[in-house]
Amino acid sequence: MSKHVAASRITAPQIRGRKGGEKLVCLTAYTAPMAALLDPHADLLLVGDSLGMVVHGLPSTVGVTLDMMILHGRAVMRGSSRALVVVDLPFGTYESDPATAYRAAVRVMQETGCQAVKVEACAGAAETTAFLVGRGIPVISHVGLRPQAANVDGGFKAKGRTDAERQRVLADARAADEAGAFAIVVEGVAASLADEITEAVSAPTIGIGASPRCDGQILVIDDMLGLFEWTPKFVRRYGDMRALISNAAEAYAADVRAGRFPGQAELYAFKTPAP
Ligand code: KIV
Repeated sequence: MSKHVAASRITAPQIRGRKGGEKLVCLTAYTAPMAALLDPHADLLLVGDSLGMVVHGLPSTVGVTLDMMILHGRAVMRGSSRALVVVDLPFGTYESDPATAYRAAVRVMQETGCQAVKVEACAGAAETTAFLVGRGIPVISHVGLRPQAANVDGGFKAKGRTDAERQRVLADARAADEAGAFAIVVEGVAASLADEITEAVSAPTIGIGASPRCDGQILVIDDMLGLFEWTPKFVRRYGDMRALISNAAEAYAADVRAGRFPGQAELYAFKTPAP
């Protein structure tokens, strides 16, 4: 049996069962080697459409395609064997109607082997979530700051500044919960709003720029490692990979230019075959 079969991984119902219990540890992953490093530590690996910005240098997630998500989803599945792997449905692949979303989600699940998809709150999202869940597709909902809506919002802006905004985000979370989402990502909201959502819904909440009282936390791996140039307020850096990589490249360049690399130990020296 392949080590990638879903049965050996944490399941969507197990994640749902962690409501109010042991905190969910979630991280994004985009490549096989990174997934292999994170897999022993994380309950859930998200192949987030943030990959458009952190891996492909796009200005937002709007340019990310289904093919890009599938390519990275396959890599993360190859690199991991334990964590639940969730793949984002990218902008333009699910918002128009449930049947379109279903086709996109089926492609993602069949071509990557992942166990669930994530959709951002939008008009009709609850109907789509219920449609997918009813057809065997576990769904995570994403409320609050919605990166795919950055053009409507005028940028990446935290939510919950006005009462109307708080009520809208709370309503999105409640609707996702009632539609059967097995977890809800709550991004970029006032901590008090995140706490209200966590109390109001039966699905576990996964916070990012939200509150420590969410049922779990997620960070973009490149942010957490200090790989991405810009660090949002809510990120805690657990490493400084930019400095590490830049220093290593500088040392390598100096060695090559000075003729110090490769050295004797890095050369092949086969015995000359007898004539
Ligand atoms: O795309 C992503 O990485 C995400 C996380 C920020 C939750 O949606």
